Amino acid sequence: MPLYCCIWLEVKELLKAMRNSRICIPLIILLLLVGLTACNKHSEPIDDQDRIVFGFSQLGDESEWRSSSSADIKRAAEAADVQLLFENAQQKQSNQIKAIRSYILNRVDVIAFCPIVEEGWDNVLMEAKAANIPVILVDRYIETKDKDLYCAFIGSDFNWEGKQAGLWMIEKFEDVKGPIRVAEISGTINSSPTIGRHEGLLEAFGDDSKFQIVTSISGDFLRSKGRECMENILKKTPDIDVLYAHNDDMAMGAIEVMEEHGIAPGKDIIVISVDAQKSGLQALRDGKINCLVECSPYVGDQLMDLVLKVANNETVPKYSYTKERVYTETDDFSTLPVRP
Ligand code: AHR
Repeated sequence: MPLYCCIWLEVKELLKAMRNSRICIPLIILLLLVGLTACNKHSEPIDDQDRIVFGFSQLGDESEWRSSSSADIKRAAEAADVQLLFENAQQKQSNQIKAIRSYILNRVDVIAFCPIVEEGWDNVLMEAKAANIPVILVDRYIETKDKDLYCAFIGSDFNWEGKQAGLWMIEKFEDVKGPIRVAEISGTINSSPTIGRHEGLLEAFGDDSKFQIVTSISGDFLRSKGRECMENILKKTPDIDVLYAHNDDMAMGAIEVMEEHGIAPGKDIIVISVDAQKSGLQALRDGKINCLVECSPYVGDQLMDLVLKVANNETVPKYSYTKERVYTETDDFSTLPVRP
């Protein structure tokens, strides 16, 4: 924090304390000392080796995908010799906003974050803009009228992913009359993968009334909630043909519940999931998942490339999408990728 801000905050505290006659002078001095120490702490981590300082707010650690994403970004920052200030927001937008504000106070060179939900970012991004710090969106999109609040986006096309799930279902049930009853376990409410994966699915179905989404509930991308959702589905709408889960973790939770109820996942209920991380790929090999739409968390190197370029005022593409594919039950499993 600039020193003049600190002094001003301190003076404000001092005036407040003086208005309260019960507060004595030693306490006021103590307040000043504590406050100035705190201000000084904020301006600490600027790199002493002239490296690029990069603040990154990860949204949480809710899934296998997220752990892979965090690990990949840390690895790539080290490889690119970029000083990374990494914060895990534990699934809270307020923590992400706090982290971004601390990066602004620390005057980092570049900020990036994975926005947990689409809305509510304009104010903090305006603060970053006022401080002249470029911001990159990673993995998820935001909803804003001012697209200049971020300089680049890197991640997946979630709408494409949802569409692939729908197109695969259409092919799978080509010779079945229908109706095909689909249960959807979606991700975090108001997050871009949840919105895109749902809308993409609807787009694929189009006007075809053969496919009916009989229930759609949020499992917040968590395995434990995937379990809860599946229990719920089996209680309220047990007569389903397909389970469409927005990620592997929720699909794995749901699969456990199916098995506990004597239902064979992949046979009695067709299972489609998104991500294609380690557990999802194993379930595909085991015949418990029928179709996996890939969503790649491995954008670390591309992200560092963007970070270095924007820090050097070079022009970068506004949107970069990762290349992804679909893995299915009919693939040659020896060609499936191996995930750490
Ligand atoms: O935003 C990407 C999604 O978030 C992944 O599909 C999911 O596993 C994660 O939690």
